[in-house]
Amino acid sequence: MGRMPTTTLDSARWRAAWDEVMTGFVPGLSALEAAIAVAADAALGRPPFRVLDLGGGPGVVAERMSARWPEAAVTMVDIDPVLLALARDGVPPAVSVLTADLGEPLPALLPAASNGWSADAGSAAAGSNGLDATGSWASGNGLAAGGRSEATHGSAASDGYDLITAVMTVHYLRPERIRALYRRCHQVMAPGGLLVVADLMPDDGLPSLMSALNPAPGEAAAELAWVQWWGEVGEAPEFARLMELRADVFRDRPPADFAGSVAWHGAAVRAAGFREAGLLWRDGRHAALAAVA
Ligand SMILES: C[S@@+](CC[C@H](N)C(=O)[O-])C[C@H]1O[C@@H](n2cnc3c(N)ncnc32)[C@H](O)[C@@H]1O
Repeated sequence: MGRMPTTTLDSARWRAAWDEVMTGFVPGLSALEAAIAVAADAALGRPPFRVLDLGGGPGVVAERMSARWPEAAVTMVDIDPVLLALARDGVPPAVSVLTADLGEPLPALLPAASNGWSADAGSAAAGSNGLDATGSWASGNGLAAGGRSEATHGSAASDGYDLITAVMTVHYLRPERIRALYRRCHQVMAPGGLLVVADLMPDDGLPSLMSALNPAPGEAAAELAWVQWWGEVGEAPEFARLMELRADVFRDRPPADFAGSVAWHGAAVRAAGFREAGLLWRDGRHAALAAVA
């Protein structure tokens, strides 16, 4: 498979447009990101050393976290060849971009890096055009060296991620996969680390309000903007091969469109071993659950 010059992707333009689309879906996105940052700093009592963004798409959230915490090793994972290509082309070198399927039976999530938990296949090492769909994490699919087992925590905070985020990602996965993902997250977190899952996450104590908020103002426009963004990508010749690969990837992985309630996600993270879980942020039907490892 050949490599395209990354400049042909014009990732800055596509990523900026993506950001607008996501803000259409989650109008409070910047408030959510601020809430995550404040919570992580407070929970840890320091900036996070290692951050993992699950389903990071083209890497706009990962890039902002890296800007906020310049000393942190920020890793993002995704499965979409188009979005991975945009991420690899667009994120700063401090952000590592990995290909991984969050819906696969775990543990196949993270590479075993010789130095612990840092990603060993960042934006520079991985293929710049996203065509190496599995190469970036093929070096080790087991529990990374230095990680903790299901039952035991690592001996030092540096053994795991201080912060794991999943923004508008888990609704792609079926419930049992989300539970498995939470178990895996717990395994790879530093003790006291914070998991934040933001998604369509209704409050099942407020069914009539949740129903009244469905659809949210602007939701139809956001859906249209999403379709338009993908339509334009589909028409751009530089994405032709990546779009074919994308079709292959999602043929067997249609989005589950699962919108578990805050209570559902809270129970799932507790069952996965997190010792605390609760609501961090809400805006309409969108919410973020925080869980402390
Ligand atoms: C709505 S997008 C959100 C992207 C990003 N978090 C953001 O806020 O810009 C959902 C992301 O989840 C990714 N995703 C869906 N299923 C996945 C899977 N099985 N493994 C890894 N990533 C997945 C998609 O490719 C997409 O990038």
